[in-house]
Amino acid sequence: MRVFLEEFTRRLPHIRLVPGQRFEYLPNTSFRGPRALWAEWDPAENPERRDPGVLSGGRSFRIGAPVKDDILREVRVAAVAQEAQGIIRVDLADPRGRDLPGWTPGAHIDLVDGEIRRKYSLCGTCGDRRHLTIAILREAEGRGGSAHFHDTPAPGRTLHVAGPRNHFRLDEAADRYTLIAGGIGITPILAMADRLRELGRPYRLIYCGATRARMAFLDRVRRDHGDVLSLQVADEGGRLDLGALPPPEAGHQVYACGPERMLDALEAMAATWPEGALHVEHFNPRSGLLDPDKEHAFEVQLRDSGLTVQVASDQTLLEALTAAGVDVPCDCGEGLCGTCEVQVSGGEIDHRDKVLSRAERAEGRRMMSCCSRAKGKALVLDL
Ligand code: FES
Repeated sequence: MRVFLEEFTRRLPHIRLVPGQRFEYLPNTSFRGPRALWAEWDPAENPERRDPGVLSGGRSFRIGAPVKDDILREVRVAAVAQEAQGIIRVDLADPRGRDLPGWTPGAHIDLVDGEIRRKYSLCGTCGDRRHLTIAILREAEGRGGSAHFHDTPAPGRTLHVAGPRNHFRLDEAADRYTLIAGGIGITPILAMADRLRELGRPYRLIYCGATRARMAFLDRVRRDHGDVLSLQVADEGGRLDLGALPPPEAGHQVYACGPERMLDALEAMAATWPEGALHVEHFNPRSGLLDPDKEHAFEVQLRDSGLTVQVASDQTLLEALTAAGVDVPCDCGEGLCGTCEVQVSGGEIDHRDKVLSRAERAEGRRMMSCCSRAKGKALVLDL
């Protein structure tokens, strides 16, 4: 459809909607759209009447990876405030004052300014359709994105966003919850705490940071969740003792966002917890951490298409498949959403995603192509 629409509008740039028509919508929630849409154009205005060359030659279109990431929404910076030391809060609004898309706790947006694109969790009020609120920590060791957004977002400035998307969903059906936030990891956790408070569900909130001055939303956290809050401030002697956390029982869910060290420790502990009890959100995409020196190349046979694809040590399986013209959809690119799943019929899988359960991994029939790899030298996929 994209190829068709691009070519169609190139050949008929003067096409327009027939004025005065009334639209009747299909009664379908999945493919909602008008039952008919009348368009008109004057053939005398067709570009080939002036330049017959328009008809000759071909155009090449990128076939393969979906273009969801390319769909951006223009937003205006509505307000910027210093939220804590090194952390700003940015409120984004629609430039024409229209409603923005709804979101759920744990959701994030990609904030885009030209070539710079970074993910930020939403931390405003879920029901507020006028604003999307994020908090940005200036990362001294980062790749420059956070510094750019710290230095540039003056109120009134135009930026772009993709999303919201949610790969860190709150399961509202659990019996009780433990929420753990480290530093700027409070952003998705705070939205979850707000929601659990609204639902009247039992939860406890652990918020740790280096100093109070560097802990974002501290007043709001204490005001709205003070009765269930355990505050651990390092320079006051506070320390998050993960070992003291009782293993969750059935129906108890743990959600955590914070430094990698904290999340790694939790993930190690969760090996003995009930399946699916721990949910974590990493700040940094793990797929971006592919270290060619520690990886090995492997070969993939595609059973249905009869192709053999080589995956280099500095390449993900998804990248190799896409480069070979094999279309596998992708969304998060980080092993979080399950979009890039492929079926496996041979070879041993090195699972690195956060999607499959322990039982599904052991079965060895499915893998996430954006991050998981082969343990050995080859895999066979049903592609
Ligand atoms: S694209 Fe989301 S898990 Fe691979």
